[in-house]
Amino acid sequence: MTVDEKVGQLEQIAVDRMLGDCNWSGGDFTEACMKQVLADEATGSVLSGGGMGPRTNTPRDWAIMINTVQKYAIGHSRLHVPIVYGVDAVHGHNNVLGATIFPQQIGLGSAWDPTLAGRTAESTQRAVAATGAVWDFAPVADLARDQRWGRYYETFSEDPLLAGANAASVVRGLQNAASGRKVAATVKHFAGYSEPSNGHDRVPADLSPRYLRDTILPSYKAAVDAGALTVMVNSGAVNGVPAHASHYLLTDVLRNQWHFKGVVISDWNDVLNLKNAYHVAADYPGAIAAAVNAGVDMAMVPPDDRSFHASAVDAVKRGLISKKRLDEAVGRVLSLKFTLGLFEHPYVDESKADAVVLGADSDLARKAATESMVLLRNDNGVLPLAPGKHIVVTGPSADSMPNQTGGWTIGWQGIPDGVTVPGTTIAQGLKAGAPAGTTVAYVPDGAAAVDQAKSADAVVVVVGEKPGAEGPADAPRPEVPADQQSLVASLQATGKPVIVVVVAGRPLVLGAAGNTAGLLAAWLPGTEGGNAVADILYGRANPSGRLSVSWPKDLGNEPEYYQQLPGTNGGQDSGYSPAFAFGAGLSYTSYRMSTVTVNRPRVRAGDTLGVDVTVANTGSRAGDLVVPVYVSQPTSPVLVPAKRLVAFTRVALGAGQIRTVHLTFPVSRLGVTPGDIDGSGPARVEAGSYVLSAGDATATFTVG
Ligand code: IFM
Repeated sequence: MTVDEKVGQLEQIAVDRMLGDCNWSGGDFTEACMKQVLADEATGSVLSGGGMGPRTNTPRDWAIMINTVQKYAIGHSRLHVPIVYGVDAVHGHNNVLGATIFPQQIGLGSAWDPTLAGRTAESTQRAVAATGAVWDFAPVADLARDQRWGRYYETFSEDPLLAGANAASVVRGLQNAASGRKVAATVKHFAGYSEPSNGHDRVPADLSPRYLRDTILPSYKAAVDAGALTVMVNSGAVNGVPAHASHYLLTDVLRNQWHFKGVVISDWNDVLNLKNAYHVAADYPGAIAAAVNAGVDMAMVPPDDRSFHASAVDAVKRGLISKKRLDEAVGRVLSLKFTLGLFEHPYVDESKADAVVLGADSDLARKAATESMVLLRNDNGVLPLAPGKHIVVTGPSADSMPNQTGGWTIGWQGIPDGVTVPGTTIAQGLKAGAPAGTTVAYVPDGAAAVDQAKSADAVVVVVGEKPGAEGPADAPRPEVPADQQSLVASLQATGKPVIVVVVAGRPLVLGAAGNTAGLLAAWLPGTEGGNAVADILYGRANPSGRLSVSWPKDLGNEPEYYQQLPGTNGGQDSGYSPAFAFGAGLSYTSYRMSTVTVNRPRVRAGDTLGVDVTVANTGSRAGDLVVPVYVSQPTSPVLVPAKRLVAFTRVALGAGQIRTVHLTFPVSRLGVTPGDIDGSGPARVEAGSYVLSAGDATATFTVG
């Protein structure tokens, strides 16, 4: 390959550069623009970031579009190398019309069921592959720790173990070739993206070395260890170094310590950003060299950037990037294409796309949405709603498919105006799914709803936030908007039982919306969200979700997460004092975790500890119980959180059933980076005694 051809393999160009006048113009492919990208630059990859493309919406349209690009690339490049096409299919194939949209990751995390998350990823894999794309920029392995951050909903959990287990399962699901071609997963955004210091997307993060190693990195590592073929870099900077120029993150940690063999892709425009935003390089060739030498193999290039290719060639010719490093990066990109079978099978069967994608796996989406929802309050057993009653449904998110699907659905910021996505809204689900004798009135106007509530038996009010993605979704005040709080207060004043359903990608401070008899966190439940809410409110499903994040009580308590380190002020609101704690969630039955035992009282740091927890369903309904196992470390030379999740499972229990569940965890999970201030590694498990807990049951064990 010539240097030109090799550099082409390091480029991923946004599809919009091949449309119209080659500049974000939409419309259809233009021959001259396809030639620029696919022949002249012989680009290695094309992406539809956030669903972009030439007015293509049905799965078949997408398959035709991707085949068109592929055909041109293979036909017009000297070596006939296929391109690898990437999409943001982060909760189903959310780019195409008619696909089933699963809950966003924040909901799946609250199901505490990585197997379920993996099944949704397998469904996504089938849909994405059917449209000819073979690279999916998912999962997000970042931690949900700052409720203000706009991408909070794209994460699974604030907890490293829970986030990592789900991300790993999604990697396996996407890359599972059992039902056809595997789709390359992307572990993103490596690393520390979710902790911008002021809560605004892409603001630099200051993460102590100990926090970075012990808390931030493990969820990415779990997903990398699951075999992810690609990793996407954090757009932000960590401890004063942009992640795209961080040799420490991209080479020392990812390659040398974790032995990652796949492709590292930049985020959107972020190689150029090393010059334009971060000023770590004086010119574009210098920026490209900084990224490539740190460990980036491929750059994601927006349509208006015409100088990447020439600048990269220049960087190689000037010796800023060695031939060896260039060949290494190209080799990784070509290996990815071989692994994905693109040389043998570059095209997809367009005629099958609609049949594979349209409406597929809606039962799975309904189950996922149902299991992700968390019942937070159920005073006087207001739920499930008794049959034969009259119910008024209102609130701005009651009948809004855009609100319940969230960002990265059809478009970057969600469902664009004028586009209708098939599915069931909450108002529709409550109407269609009402039991015999129950009547439901959906009343969009707030004042009219208050009026009608007076003669209703119960009111369901669906509050929440508008969809969005990245910076536009940042929320300096993550609370239920004031007008929605007033609506809830007015409904409450009628004296009728009020059930608040929160449709949001983060826990919103509830204010006046937090005093009602019923409260359900529905997250961003996707196209089956309306049926899932109906299943729970009418009692066809027993709520089983548990918060995978902490729900702040007041504004100003962000970032809120349970693994706070101990402090000395001891005041009422110091430390951890959320409205609803990590792991909270109610059910229509009652459970007890009565005993927990360890299989050996003394272990070494390299051992695996077995734990038995006896769980009982003490109520009269079958249900699924999430069993979290935490460890507390009574003394430690460096600060550790009051408790850390070390293992969990989810178990089905019939009414009155008692079971003993067996869990294991590696004792190394308790490792902490030792050292004063600088926290110089590696992590070490302190000798001494530890307390293990599940519910109210505890056991002790000793390390050493
Ligand atoms: O995959 C995304 C990433 O998460 C954020 N920036 C744009 C990429 C491509 O759309």
